[in-house]
Amino acid sequence: MNITLKNNLPIGIFDSGVGGLTVYRSLHKRLPDERFLYLGDTARVPYGTKSLSTVERYGIENARFLAAHGIKMLVVACNTASALALPAIERAAGVPTVGVIESGARAAVEQAKTKIGVIATEATVRSGAYRRAIERRAPHVNIIEQACPLFVSLAEEGYAETEAARIIANDYLKELRAALVDALVIGCTHYPVLRKVIEETIGEGVMLIDSGEAVAEDTAAALETHGLGRAPDRENLARPRRLCDDLDHFYVTDSAERFSRIAEMFLGSAPRRLEAVEVWGHDQLNAGRKEN
Ligand code: DGL
Repeated sequence: MNITLKNNLPIGIFDSGVGGLTVYRSLHKRLPDERFLYLGDTARVPYGTKSLSTVERYGIENARFLAAHGIKMLVVACNTASALALPAIERAAGVPTVGVIESGARAAVEQAKTKIGVIATEATVRSGAYRRAIERRAPHVNIIEQACPLFVSLAEEGYAETEAARIIANDYLKELRAALVDALVIGCTHYPVLRKVIEETIGEGVMLIDSGEAVAEDTAAALETHGLGRAPDRENLARPRRLCDDLDHFYVTDSAERFSRIAEMFLGSAPRRLEAVEVWGHDQLNAGRKEN
């Protein structure tokens, strides 16, 4: 493909649901000239309670779906899929692929001195991916991990700043609080939706590391390395990019209305271009649409 045409393709992003919007927001801010194709696999969320083979199959199907729509790079905006299946997803996508674990681990080691807490899904904690990525960079640091599965439902249901969220956060984070960690890695892209409650519960003086923010830097570096950056559009110089504007396209595998409502609560604007699709049971050229 002609280099300029390729550079003009969007960057694909996928997550099991609304969580990857936290990564989309960071990417959008860091890379305002880029376009994004976002897939939220809302019909099959949560991924964090599922087995390796299931998460791998979902990840491959999502990657094929996005590749069939034309992307130049893929960001796996899901810690669970990044932890369990990144190499298989990259093969299926056929384009350079960035996961969130390495970026989160790098940012944590830059911030923390002795004790790092990691909150993530059950599958991510069980995989040991964060532990390995942090220990590789800082072998002497003490790592304490905690799965917080209900945070995913609280985010998907729009229950982020409720009393229920505070009670659950208090229970999940009590050991990390008692252990006096220096930094807390938010190792699931759904959890930053609850950032305020997490911050209040873990207490002052603990640095929160959002792997989504860290991955935006790594994606910018990967675009540079592969020579895939998009030149600014002349007409857009006068028209600043806005989150969820019509230059980005969103797909979900279940109710578009529901996704739109949560996106608006979290990002302050609902996607202008949003469609419900089926990604499973199709090969990549047959990825099909379905009724909302
Ligand atoms: N947001 C995803 C993650 O970062 C998955 C959450 C889930 O579906 O359980 O792990």
